[in-house]
Amino acid sequence: MSVTLGIDIGTSGTKTLAIDERGNILAAATAEYPCDHPRPGWSEQAPSLWWDATVDTIRGVLATGTFRAEDIAGIGLSGQMHGSVFLADSGEVIRPALLWNDQRTAEECVEIEEKAGGREALIRMVANPALTGFTAPKLLWVRRHEPKNWDRVRQVLLPKDYARYRLSGTYATEVSDASGTLMLDVANRRWSTELLGKLSLDPTLLPPCYESPEVSAKVSEIAAKATGLKPGTPIVGGGGDQPAGAVGNGIVRQGVVSATMGTSGVVFAHADQPGFDPLGRLQRGCHAVPGAWHVMGVVLAAGGSFQWFRNELGKAEVAAAKQRGEDPYYLLTAEAALAGPGAEGLFFLPYLTGERTPHFDPDAKGAWVGLTVRHGRPHLIRSVLEGATFAMRDSLELIREMGVAIEQVRVSGGGARNPLWRQIQADIYGCDVHTINASEGPAYGVALLAQVGTGAFASVPEACDATIRVIDSTPMDAKIRPYYDRAYAVYRQLYNDLRHSFHTISELVHNK
Ligand code: XUL
Repeated sequence: MSVTLGIDIGTSGTKTLAIDERGNILAAATAEYPCDHPRPGWSEQAPSLWWDATVDTIRGVLATGTFRAEDIAGIGLSGQMHGSVFLADSGEVIRPALLWNDQRTAEECVEIEEKAGGREALIRMVANPALTGFTAPKLLWVRRHEPKNWDRVRQVLLPKDYARYRLSGTYATEVSDASGTLMLDVANRRWSTELLGKLSLDPTLLPPCYESPEVSAKVSEIAAKATGLKPGTPIVGGGGDQPAGAVGNGIVRQGVVSATMGTSGVVFAHADQPGFDPLGRLQRGCHAVPGAWHVMGVVLAAGGSFQWFRNELGKAEVAAAKQRGEDPYYLLTAEAALAGPGAEGLFFLPYLTGERTPHFDPDAKGAWVGLTVRHGRPHLIRSVLEGATFAMRDSLELIREMGVAIEQVRVSGGGARNPLWRQIQADIYGCDVHTINASEGPAYGVALLAQVGTGAFASVPEACDATIRVIDSTPMDAKIRPYYDRAYAVYRQLYNDLRHSFHTISELVHNK
């Protein structure tokens, strides 16, 4: 038996999964941890939490007894992207890591664009514009605001690469996660010495960069003692959580696209060419498939908008669901089904935590527009589901505009589990949507990469073909689609109409 482990260092917890060479799941374990928000818009985590959770969950899967440590052919690592771990000479952590959802670096983003010679020049070097969540602006922030800490920094790692360091004593990363640092020459799959030079950042701060299925390190004696793993077990490059999740969804060929509706919503497409959009409206990066790239759009509060509705306005459903032993989302969507498509002209903008794609606007806000006395709870709920889906369509449209073909849309996450939301997705995207047999996301994707890296499969697409298949399809309703096309045009206009007011509201709140 050739077992591989997939370890995903998420924002709210770490998940470790064990699979065999046929893709069957043998064991899974999770461990949760908190996230610190020392100031509004700041988001930090102590890397030791990730290591403790990695040890606990590896021990957890080994304790199931379904396989032995000697059966493990390899390990794949995945994790929240863009975070920055600052290490001193000895490998000691200097300060808590700044995370992907930390918004403190607006000034540093402006500085990076200026030093790069403008936004277009920056996008030509690293395929992306400077976003507050990315890694490079975090380095500049620490350099400017914490010079004493900065003087001690000898190595900067991404979250999953810190787990690799603790497992092996080796500094390494891989191209898919490195793409989210704003320091990778994405087209050539290597660090951008050009941009590092312009930002006066020493390239030795960054680890060697591998391809995702390549073996990059081996489990050390010390880590073997801590985890119960066998010393010398190979660790492959792995992937950032989005590219790794895409492998787990079988998005490894041009034409197949995923729409994953979790707290955030991500539309992810495989691309055969690096390509780039001079306006930088979508994130581009290397795929976890050697020789391939990806393009993705991120909606910050997709499922998160529905979660907000449940928490703030769905307390009655939460209480009723608890009594009946049901899922509150089930009761809420049953109510939403009482309203027809379009919710009688009620629109919801899902920008509850600002927006990334396509607006890149931290000041964007949520809104209901079009309310009348005829609207009741079913319309409010349905409009939230539709608003989040319109936001996902924005990314699909941009991907189409860039000439990346969309032949099949695979839906996953909370938005795919509910039949009403699946139908709304098919009708708003304007195509049938499909669900697949695998639902373990990034941990599954990197466990497959480890199978490839240790020889069970010749390539990532071969591994996906052998393990992942479509199990259900929701056809688009051709009668409803024209209505949604017209409604989408209204939705798109609303952000433009309200943008100025969103910014004025932010000023009002911050200077009160
Ligand atoms: C991707 C992104 C998030 C994080 C955390 O660009 O910001 O998906 O990786 O999950």
